[in-house]
Amino acid sequence: MKICISSGKGGVGKTTLVVNLAYCLADKGKKVLMVDGDLGLANVDVMLGITAQKTISDVMDRGADPFDALIQLTENLSVLPASSGAPDMVSLGPEEQNLLGQYLDGMVGKFDIMLADTAAGIGPSVRWFNQFVDHNMVVATPDPTSLTDSYALMKVLKQEHDIRGFHLVLNLVKSREQGEKTFATLADAAKKFLDLHLQYLGPVLEDEAVPLAIRNQKPLVLTSPSSPASLTIKELGEKLLSW
Ligand SMILES: Nc1ncnc2c1ncn2[C@@H]1O[C@H](COP(=O)(O)OP(=O)(O)O)[C@@H](O)[C@H]1O
Ligand SMILES: [Mg+2]
Repeated sequence: MKICISSGKGGVGKTTLVVNLAYCLADKGKKVLMVDGDLGLANVDVMLGITAQKTISDVMDRGADPFDALIQLTENLSVLPASSGAPDMVSLGPEEQNLLGQYLDGMVGKFDIMLADTAAGIGPSVRWFNQFVDHNMVVATPDPTSLTDSYALMKVLKQEHDIRGFHLVLNLVKSREQGEKTFATLADAAKKFLDLHLQYLGPVLEDEAVPLAIRNQKPLVLTSPSSPASLTIKELGEKLLSW
């Protein structure tokens, strides 16, 4: 199963969600491949305090073996890192897209779940990941600018790539109720103007343990497993397992 996480707007919690969901799913016994699909401004490695020897860009540009670039974090969890400051990678041309697809398809068979982080915006690499995967996750926050950007992202993905199924996560919510209300607003607009039926995967609560975990470069679900954000991310993981 291949999943990618996008948002339109940056800074809404995509990388946090990918990293922590990956640990949750691996903890449930799934073999998880985390892909840093933010090809130009990677930060999965930064969030985990690891150093990549080889990255997706070495694989694509220099024909390195994709399996050599994998970093095994735990028995069940590996990450395919990207490089930061690789602007070329952001606007993948058709040939590079094919190549990346071949590399990833060659790897995903060894895993139960591929979770790909993606860049901000609605550029070529974001669109490519969204049409490559089986499930499209979109992260937004109750901030109006995040909601309009996630709406714009879904609009482009539907109109230009015929993608119609979106699983929404609302991050940085102060309560479950705020998450539900915000989802209802977004889902109404998507239904009315885009004829899209959004699925609500659930909320991730705002939690001061999140920035702390990032500063310590350790996954939140390991360092603060019972903090509000960890508990809500674990619930999302449980739902994912039922897909
Ligand atoms: N649930 C949360 N509670 C508090 N802060 C959060 C939460 N999720 C994300 N953040 C903060 O938001 C910032 C951006 O998160 P990040 O995962 O890097 O977003 P993105 O990958 O979408 O750019 C981080 O500095 C993090 O501390
Ligand atoms: Mg990110």
